[in-house]
Amino acid sequence: MTDKKSTSLNVVEDGGKTKAGNYFVSNYPPFSLWETRHTADLQAKLDEPAPQDRPLGLYVHIPFCRKRCHFCYFRVYTGKNKDDIREYMDAVIDEHAAMAEKSYIKGRPLKFVYFGGGTPSFLSEQQLAYLFDGLRRVLPWDSAEEVAFECEPGTLNAKKLIAIRKLGVTRLSLGIENFDDQVLELNNRAHRSKQVYNAVQWAKDAGFPQTNIDLIAGMMGETEENWRRNIDITRELSPECVTIYQMEIPFNTTIYKQMQEEGKLTAPVADWETKRRWVTEAFEALEADGYTVTSAYTAVKDPDKIQFVYRDALWTGADMLAVGVSSFGHLGGIHYQNQHDIVPYTSAVTGGESPVYRALPVSDEEMMIRQWVLQMKLGRLSRLPFIEKFGVDPFERWKDILAGYEAKGYLRFEGDELVLTRDALLEVDGLLQAFFLPQHRDVRYA
Ligand SMILES: C[S@@+](CC[C@H](N)C(=O)[O-])C[C@H]1O[C@@H](n2cnc3c(N)ncnc32)[C@H](O)[C@@H]1O
Ligand code: SF4
Repeated sequence: MTDKKSTSLNVVEDGGKTKAGNYFVSNYPPFSLWETRHTADLQAKLDEPAPQDRPLGLYVHIPFCRKRCHFCYFRVYTGKNKDDIREYMDAVIDEHAAMAEKSYIKGRPLKFVYFGGGTPSFLSEQQLAYLFDGLRRVLPWDSAEEVAFECEPGTLNAKKLIAIRKLGVTRLSLGIENFDDQVLELNNRAHRSKQVYNAVQWAKDAGFPQTNIDLIAGMMGETEENWRRNIDITRELSPECVTIYQMEIPFNTTIYKQMQEEGKLTAPVADWETKRRWVTEAFEALEADGYTVTSAYTAVKDPDKIQFVYRDALWTGADMLAVGVSSFGHLGGIHYQNQHDIVPYTSAVTGGESPVYRALPVSDEEMMIRQWVLQMKLGRLSRLPFIEKFGVDPFERWKDILAGYEAKGYLRFEGDELVLTRDALLEVDGLLQAFFLPQHRDVRYA
């Protein structure tokens, strides 16, 4: 979650081959504009009184993994021992305690909690109990609507999943990616398919209200036949939520390093058209089983019952207190990100200093653009909340862009709502830059 970057890439260039770079837009304005000098703005915000009407969530980054997947671009460490983990957990709890003392945060209820990574499930039951207890003592989350937790299937067993459920996790997310052992091996995943089937069954037995599975369309070695098999197995497993990413190859991945060594410009994965077709086929099969597609990446079995509170709160402008190495958050109009490496991160916290290393105050106009582009990823959005909240009618403001997209058949208007076609939704990240302020188009994203 921490390292997904805003994009400046037109992914459909050059016949749609997959080139290196990020296409996934997760925030706005782009990260390259966040600066150390603005961290003072965050500190000033933290001394202000708590807002009455703005929901608050907590993001906790766990940067440990068993192996580094060849396609991964997150801040992760492999080979850390239990002392390293203890030191890290203490830093996270201390950072959280220091933030929660600030008047802007103090006493506010948490609407959601999200454990992301890396691999939160890399921690043992005892370590998880220690971390959860430490964090909960600082700000209780009994009334939180969602506690989400990311897992790598090979780190799980039945007992551990029961313990995770007892700790209060409501949304379990399994990074399955693919059901084929050869594909998993080729991409350096730590788990194999048998562990996936076990994990799904144990999760069902442990009674999580919601289990999500992550798949990636276009891993190295993916074939048409194999992708169809992935869809069939997903349908059989029938989780409450399925998230399907299209493989991207950011610059900090092992795959990109390999491409550089070999002097290649095209990544050894399917092209964008094929990846989009694979996601389309998967979504159509899931829809035939009664699922509803609720964003560019997700299909949900029962959208009335199954919510994704973290995503929806974030995309509508909630505050998010983010703790841990490289985590990024947003508080009262200020974006911020913590130190990117574990040593400066833990040294800052243990030295009683803030580990935040870059920040950006976001204007109302930028906040509106941010919420608009993020909500475009839902495939259906209303102009009314924007008029109410920002006093701006997005249909008027972006009249020309929207008319252009309508003429290309990407979207249609339904009263106060805008609806993207399935094709447009599956390449939505490439359509968002048009809404950015001119100075933010084509800027470096990292
Ligand atoms: C932090 S991981 C989930 C938990 C755990 N680390 C795991 O991988 O099982 C978040 C998800 O991002 C997706 N992801 C990672 N690298 C990706 C890439 N290069 N392109 C597309 N999706 C990617 C994967 O689906 C992965 O499950
Ligand atoms: S397990 Fe997840 S976070 Fe860890 S390296 Fe693989 S994709 Fe990245």
